[in-house]
Amino acid sequence: MRDVRDRPIGVFDSGLGGLTVVRELARALPHESILYLGDTARCPYGPRDQAEVRRFVLQIGTWLSVRDIKLMVIACNTATASGLALAQRTFDVPVIGVVEPGARAAVQATRNRRVGVIGTVGTVRSGAYSSAVRALDAGVTVFSAPAPKFVDIVEAGLRMDDGAIESLMSQASDVFVRPSFYELARDYLDPLKRAGIDTLVLGCTHFPLLSAAIQQVVGPGVRLISSAEETAREVRETLEVRGHAAGSGSVPSHTFVTTGDPDEFERLGSRILGWPTGPVETVSVDELESLMTPEMEAAAAEPREPSCG
Ligand code: DGL
Repeated sequence: MRDVRDRPIGVFDSGLGGLTVVRELARALPHESILYLGDTARCPYGPRDQAEVRRFVLQIGTWLSVRDIKLMVIACNTATASGLALAQRTFDVPVIGVVEPGARAAVQATRNRRVGVIGTVGTVRSGAYSSAVRALDAGVTVFSAPAPKFVDIVEAGLRMDDGAIESLMSQASDVFVRPSFYELARDYLDPLKRAGIDTLVLGCTHFPLLSAAIQQVVGPGVRLISSAEETAREVRETLEVRGHAAGSGSVPSHTFVTTGDPDEFERLGSRILGWPTGPVETVSVDELESLMTPEMEAAAAEPREPSCG
């Protein structure tokens, strides 16, 4: 039986975007191994209804659980918003989502207690960020706006260039993004600016890759929050408190798995991470679907219980 400290952290997302979280995890926890599943074949999750996303959370959570992980990270805002509470009830390892860490960082950052949130339609409709912020500080007002086309812009921008990527705006894809982006960004963000926010949560895995451009639109007075760093901090604390952190002599080994095209995942994923993924493995959607039991179907179909995400 493998020592718990040597087991990997399981991470999943609807596709590539969750690698922005892996990037922070690898920075904060350089000795931990990561097993990442990107459900690229079924991406995007954002427009899907909550019950469908909960099915995916249960399937992928089950797939990761049998691979001996010590902790699970739902590195997708939409999946966290729909399925975190269910995953926490279902799996016997700690499950950490990205909504509560982002909400906490926003509550700490705001001075005027007016916080904006942008995310997918699914995330905004769930109200998960508002609930999470309210649970931390009932005096903070949250203004949310869906920004679904930002996901498409990031996906298109990623396919346009080579090399490591911190922000799409520092790349040649700037040229591609610029004309349509600013018009769209103003449509999404102007109502939040008019509401007087001083803090904006980038409540979607893809949005940190547009942070430079979003900052230009909202102006220097608005602080941008990406939940990736906060999530990594929470993972580190959870492992340390439980005595499950990898030893300082451990050499990490990361494994990346996709339901989509492994070559494309390797090429684009390595750009987001800034280091090579190595050969990417695959799992089929059929295999994930085959993990569903009647109990899981019933649990996924239940209306979501109130949760802070
Ligand atoms: N990963 C998703 C999120 O953070 C964005 C992409 C999608 O819609 O699946 O909400």
